[in-house]
This record gives sequence, structure tokens and C-alpha cells, in this order.
Amino acid sequence: MIYIIEPLTPSVMREHLAAILEMDSSIVATEHWEQSHFLVDLPGKWECSRVVLNGEKLTGFMIATYKPESVHVNRIAIAPQYQSAGIAMRLLKMAALSAQHSHKQFVTLKVSLQNKKAVGFYQHRGFQLKEISGSNLALYIEAEVLLADNKADRQKQVGYA
Ligand SMILES: CC(C)(COP(=O)(O)OP(=O)(O)OC[C@H]1O[C@@H](n2cnc3c(N)ncnc32)[C@H](O)[C@@H]1OP(=O)(O)O)[C@@H](O)C(=O)NCCC(=O)NCCS
Repeated sequence: MIYIIEPLTPSVMREHLAAILEMDSSIVATEHWEQSHFLVDLPGKWECSRVVLNGEKLTGFMIATYKPESVHVNRIAIAPQYQSAGIAMRLLKMAALSAQHSHKQFVTLKVSLQNKKAVGFYQHRGFQLKEISGSNLALYIEAEVLLADNKADRQKQVGYA
């Protein structure tokens, strides 16, 4: 499986916007995002976000931004045929590196309770429950823990699902 991960800069976003919108609407089951959500300028967005490409073909993306104490993953998606190859984990580790470089302790995100696959994915990686708001779980993990992740570490994590 050949892919590269590149910074998702404003020009890369514009170049791949149609494919990102299509992938997002077909596989991300949370609140719908318009084109404007992807283009909006937010703190840290163009430093922390990444795109996954196989040649010119979009295979995944992560939109992440700065919060006071964390790098927050607003959106993450991998094309179905590229899932289970560790790509999302590589993206999360990049978010953890961005957190460390910006002196933030955590990586945070929200996931819908209905998104069982994603909930399991985060749970296996040691994300902890911060709060439940409506049908969403707000999760956090220390950047250091995410960067040190391996199978042995995962077995020690406490569940919340
Ligand atoms: C959730 C999502 C981002 C995970 O992406 P992914 O690239 O498949 O994630 P990974 O490959 O890193 O891990 C997925 C599984 O593959 C397994 N895996 C990873 N590398 C592997 C490898 N080399 N060989 C075999 N299995 C592997 C992992 O153990 C993991 O299983 P687990 O979650 O039960 O531990 C992806 O399913 C997705 O895009 N879903 C739709 C959008 C979505 O729901 N986004 C999240 C919204 S918050």
C-alpha cells in the first residue's frame, strides 16, 4: 500500500477540496461540514492538518487545530480500502507531535457514540473520556502516551464504552 502524508496547507486544501468533500460526506457520520468549514482559517489549522495521498488520489485527511491545552482533531477520515493499515494512527501521532511542538499536553477530539468503529479505535489507543455531551464523547490523551503507543500499552488502557 503506497501513500504519502503531506501538510494540508490552504493551497493543498483548495486543490483536493472536491475529493475531501466527497470522502467526508460518504464516510464521516458526524455533523455535516460544508465547503466553508474546510476552508475556514482557525488557530494552528494549517500547521497541524494533514492529507494522505496515493499519487494524486486522496486516501485520507485530518483537520486539527489548536485549543488552549491541546491539539484538537476536528475531522479524520481514511478511505475504506486504505483502512486498517495504521494510517489513522500515523496521523494521530502527527497530531501528538504538533502538540509537543506547540507545548500542549494533550490530543483531544469528539466522536459520536453511534460511531462504534471509531469509538473502539480511540479506546484501543488509550483515549480517556472527558465528558459526554448529547450523543458525543469528548476524549483526550496525553501526546506523550500517543507517541509511545504500542500493542502492549494498549492492553493496559481502561475502557469507557
Ligand atoms: C476511524 C478511522 C479514521 C480509522 O482509520 P484507520 O486508518 O483504519 O485506522 P488504523 O489502521 O490506524 O487502525 C484501525 C485498525 O486497524 C488495525 N491495524 C492497524 N495497522 C495494522 C496493520 N499493519 N495490520 C493489520 N491491522 C492493522 C488496528 O489494530 C486497528 O484496529 P483497532 O481499532 O481495533 O485497534 C477510519 O475507520 C475512518 O475513516 N472511519 C470513517 C470516518 C470516521 O468515523 N472518522 C472518525 C470520526 S471521529
